[in-house]
Amino acid sequence: MSYKLDLSALAGLDRSEHGGVTRQLADFFVDAIDGGRLEPGDQLPPTRELAAAADVNHLTAARVYRRLAELGYVTASVGRGTFVSARAAAAAETGDGEWQSYVLPERRVSYAAEVLQDQFRTAQQDDIISLAVGWPTPRLYPVRELRAISDEVFADAGGEALGYLSAEGLPELREELARRGAAAGFATSPEEIIVTSGARQGLDLVARAVLGPDDVAVVESPTFTGLLTSLEDTGARVIGIPVDEDGFDVDALERVLARHEVKLCALQPACHNPTGRDLVGPRRERLLELAQERSFFVLEDAVYATLRYEGTEPQRLRAGAPAHVVYVDSLSKTVGGGLRIGWIAARGPIRGRLAALKMAADVHTSSLDQHIAARYLAAGHHDRQLERALPYYRERRDALMAALERHLAGEWRATTPAGGHHVWVTLNRPVPERALYNEALRHGMTFTPGGATMVEPGPQTSLRLSFGLLDPDELDEGVRRLAVALRAVRRYDRLAATAPLS
Ligand SMILES: Cc1ncc(COP(=O)(O)O)c(C=O)c1O
Repeated sequence: MSYKLDLSALAGLDRSEHGGVTRQLADFFVDAIDGGRLEPGDQLPPTRELAAAADVNHLTAARVYRRLAELGYVTASVGRGTFVSARAAAAAETGDGEWQSYVLPERRVSYAAEVLQDQFRTAQQDDIISLAVGWPTPRLYPVRELRAISDEVFADAGGEALGYLSAEGLPELREELARRGAAAGFATSPEEIIVTSGARQGLDLVARAVLGPDDVAVVESPTFTGLLTSLEDTGARVIGIPVDEDGFDVDALERVLARHEVKLCALQPACHNPTGRDLVGPRRERLLELAQERSFFVLEDAVYATLRYEGTEPQRLRAGAPAHVVYVDSLSKTVGGGLRIGWIAARGPIRGRLAALKMAADVHTSSLDQHIAARYLAAGHHDRQLERALPYYRERRDALMAALERHLAGEWRATTPAGGHHVWVTLNRPVPERALYNEALRHGMTFTPGGATMVEPGPQTSLRLSFGLLDPDELDEGVRRLAVALRAVRRYDRLAATAPLS
């Protein structure tokens, strides 16, 4: 194959500068792309050809292409090669910070992390109907109550509300959470509680406290994308366990345990994100037996457990094995995600490790916010907040199910979720997930692609559709746009299948 560039120019590289060869090679391609000699879609020579032409080793050539990819100039496709990306023009406008990518350590951004960032970006765009984020609606935020409580906090505690705290958090908040924990089954004393900056930080601290690069963790697949990112960032091997109508598949876990020494098993036993399912009684018991017999930690994430529209709330898993289950929760889904009040409940040596990691991460969660949260909970506002929230979200869940029936009849299957903010939809006939995502964006809607929530994407196409932030008519319009996008992707697929080979 011939490539557009004459690589003989690479013979004159200046090899005296440390690290300079990678930079000079990358600059060679950047100049060619910026100067229009290489255009979007053009293929770059294979790394072995580049290595030979520049008289560098193969690893250096591979590093050059990785740097170009980080700068947004190229995209690599396994088995096909490296191509100038369509975004190359935008990458050229990044200003004078490009040198940094030669100095910063290499960092692979996973599909889950990429999608998570995109979800936050598109959710703030006015022209896009985002069914991608599980955010609560600002309409229900208890603004009046929190405003009055903030005044009270400053009147009563004065400057103390702004002082430093221990890493574990404000004693009054820990006591209030432990009181609630005794009723729900997640904690027995304030000593077990560590206040965190949202559940996301709780998940991350637990992953880092338990896992190192040679360890094995298992997790529900699909799951919350942020949890996947935290588990993968530890360098541990992460194995996905399917979720069916009875929740996390404990038989599949037993098969994994027969082959691996598992250190951490992460799951959401109630109102699971994204399927909305609960872990049924016999599976709960078996999971706890296994954790005790085989000595592994269970990470129980319960951020959606109280957002239940049908059925009764089961006891938290931690009640059955408090030394093995580490519990993570937050006020994000019921009060407001921006408050960033979450907590962990744990006992034994892991508790001290978690407090040390929390201290290293951000010393402690904002004192003022902890004072406010403690009073908000103690005054009973939270229970009233839940009473208001449940019918509001139930109506939106039903509106989303009706919109699916109206616009996509015969195309999908899903179980109506008993709780949470999401519907997990699987298409009856698969389509390329990224193509559907891009087409949907073009039509002004987004969803969470199922592959980003899974350890290893399967052959089916699944979508997580979230209903918390939108009104019934917006949900209907979002699904209508999705249906238009799906029809378009099916049409392209048919055209591609019938096009004559050139
Ligand atoms: C299952 C699950 N766990 C944890 C989190 C993180 O919650 P927080 O906003 O409290 O960090 C989320 C957020 O979407 C979630 O869906």
